[in-house]
Amino acid sequence: MKLTVVGAGAVGRLWGCKLSLQHDVHFWTRDNAPSLTVQLNPLAANDKSTICHFSANQPPVLTDADCILVIVKAFQVTQALKDIRRHLRPETPVIIMHNGMGSQDIARKLLPKNPLLYATTAQAAFRPDEQQVSHTGIGQTWLGALNTTGKKHKALADELDYALPPCQWHDDIAYPLWQKLAINCAINPLTAIHQCRNGELANQNYSQQLTDICHEVAQVMTAEGYPINSDELKQLADKVIKATSQNFSSMNQDICQHRPTEIDYITGYLIVRAKAHGITVPVNTRLWQQIKQLEQHNNDQ
Ligand code: PAF
Repeated sequence: MKLTVVGAGAVGRLWGCKLSLQHDVHFWTRDNAPSLTVQLNPLAANDKSTICHFSANQPPVLTDADCILVIVKAFQVTQALKDIRRHLRPETPVIIMHNGMGSQDIARKLLPKNPLLYATTAQAAFRPDEQQVSHTGIGQTWLGALNTTGKKHKALADELDYALPPCQWHDDIAYPLWQKLAINCAINPLTAIHQCRNGELANQNYSQQLTDICHEVAQVMTAEGYPINSDELKQLADKVIKATSQNFSSMNQDICQHRPTEIDYITGYLIVRAKAHGITVPVNTRLWQQIKQLEQHNNDQ
């Protein structure tokens, strides 16, 4: 298959390198460079790093692609879709993968004809420098359709599974997206505010706050049609905290490096949906305010 990966962040590079073992992969990046070289450091310390060379930013290659993977931050989706849409054929499936929720309406509006799919992944990657990407954790990826034509591309889940397992198709992608959003609501703001690794949240000091966050998220998820109780969500969050204990969350890294965060698509999205159902979420609202203040503080410096 001919694939174009839009976005050259850690997760995009990881998927690009893994998919390039079976497919022709081309990148679409913000710097407009004609090529991209990535050194992939594998998860197992004993395995050798591989160097992957990609062509990049070639409009005819984008037009010719059999599938597009948009792997950018949630707040970059609008610009990324605006940049690529004039080059896309209307039948080309587009997979969008980011933390959080809330870009679905704009994707439908900007690409009204294309088969649209969403993916959520628990694969973890980190960029130690400009050229390298380190695969730092294995986790489940879910793929599902956003529109009717997207449903015809179920087989793409097999391609993703082959490249970077495990990946499965989900008939209602909103469910795994909500589950991931719940985990992000629990881990990301706290690790960004306290500038700590994910594993630090296993400390008793954070237990009550995590319980309160999960309690609010469970109420909103249930109102959205995905019934879940707070204990189940807390257990899910605890499991991810343990599995990613050595990692710095994406929001921690964004705040640390004075970059904008995905808070409006994580806790912010929760707050918007809570309001729509008349549910109050004071603990999450406070966390949203704290991250907004940190972003503002970083901006003013
Ligand atoms: O955003 C992140 O960093 C990740 O989604 C997660 C699951 C919180 C692990 O670090």
